Amino acid sequence: MTAILDPGGRSLTAIVLAAGKGTRMRSDLPKVLHRVAGRTMLGHVLAAARGAGASRIAVVAEPGQAAVEAEVAASAPGARVHPQAERLGTAHAVLAARETLAETGDDIVIAFGDTPLVTAETLTRLRAPLAAGAAVAILAFETDSPTGYGRVLTQNGSVTAIREEKDASDEERQVRLCNAGLMALSGRYALDLLGRIGNHNAAGEYYLPDAVALAVADGLMVAVVNVDEAEAQGVNDRVQLAVAEAAIQQRLRRAAQLGGATLIAPETVFLSSDTVLGRDVLVEPHVIFGPKVTVGDRCIIHAFSHLEGATLEDGVAIGPYARLRPGAVLEEGSRIGNFVEIKNARLGPGAKANHLSYLGDSEIGAGANVGAGTITCNYDGTNKHRTAIGAGAFIGSNTALVAPVSVGAGAIVGAGSVVTADVPADALAVGRARQVNRPDGARLWRQVKGLKTKS
Ligand code: UD1
Ligand code: CA
Repeated sequence: MTAILDPGGRSLTAIVLAAGKGTRMRSDLPKVLHRVAGRTMLGHVLAAARGAGASRIAVVAEPGQAAVEAEVAASAPGARVHPQAERLGTAHAVLAARETLAETGDDIVIAFGDTPLVTAETLTRLRAPLAAGAAVAILAFETDSPTGYGRVLTQNGSVTAIREEKDASDEERQVRLCNAGLMALSGRYALDLLGRIGNHNAAGEYYLPDAVALAVADGLMVAVVNVDEAEAQGVNDRVQLAVAEAAIQQRLRRAAQLGGATLIAPETVFLSSDTVLGRDVLVEPHVIFGPKVTVGDRCIIHAFSHLEGATLEDGVAIGPYARLRPGAVLEEGSRIGNFVEIKNARLGPGAKANHLSYLGDSEIGAGANVGAGTITCNYDGTNKHRTAIGAGAFIGSNTALVAPVSVGAGAIVGAGSVVTADVPADALAVGRARQVNRPDGARLWRQVKGLKTKS
């Protein structure tokens, strides 16, 4: 990883604490791997650390959590994972990253893997006092319901200590200035301060916030940086997970709108952290963007569409009720209508599939028209096979294309065909039972059945 330095020339190391089962999630998945807006909570925190310019990132996790290690490798390549065998407190957790801390010269920020709303800007504000000589900077907020939080104690306007709820006197519990948990430490003092933190408290834990009182006793500068309580919110159960989801959705919608997309009813549109929307995109109500969706300029996403792993080039329209699955690529000006499902398929420029179709593992040429009810039969029960439709081909309604099969450019397939053999370019294929009309047949049938004759 290349070293990223802030304008003051100071390097930044981020330590993300992610140990703990998160029992209140009632889940087989480690807590920090639960997703908010399509991205794991840990992924959000790592993204914030990267966004703040951290050149070195370390994650403290329970030993043997391969899934956590995989997420770290994916979200922050090059980041280290330090195991914390026993969960003995936040200071003990930070010290599990001792090897990373020892390499660190300048600034250290400590973030929590279950606090996904924290932004890169906040981490940047948190570290800023270090450049001005502070040894410790804490993040704090005022609240009318401080229960459960560590209280920030002050004397004559200066911070003296952080007191955990469990250890606080009745008087200290009246304090409404709370510790958000995240902290910045100067690399110069970090190991010394952390090494002197004890566990003589109500929980018998090594408390990271005790670094404050130690720094004050040493005559070092401790800074307080304010943060919105909502941004510091941790996630411990699925109710709080939904609160975090709502907050991130609101941010993503706002960013999409400010980026030039119209969301008619933004509160009904759900985005992923990596959703990319172009300029002059119109998103109608009730649309869900799963991970890995890119939408070009001037696209229209009609109501009730669901997209994931899809790429829309400029001027594409989909829906209402379109479903785009991974590998869907819609080239410029193509059109997907109602109740059409696309998976691992490419539609050429101007191609259309307007009604009730399933197109999977397919290549559809420029300007081709796929009629209502057309299905690619891509799966034979064992393997998936491909369908190729040439440029300008016309597939009649209710056609079944039994893959592997191809329809050449400019060919026409008659409605209701079951296409099992390749159709050459410019050919007309009809693959259906021949229609038979029996004159008077209907009347004779009614006679046999003893039914009233209609005409
Ligand atoms: C912490 C702060 C408290 C603050 C609150 C804000 C301490 C002692 N207290 O309390 O002042 O008001 O956050 O939400 O820091 N972790 C480990 N290993 C451990 C212990 C914790 O990795 O041994 C991780 C947890 O996974 C979690 C984070 O550290 O992500 C915070 O730990 P937690 O026990 O939730 O601290 P709080 O009691 O919330
Ligand atoms: Ca917590």
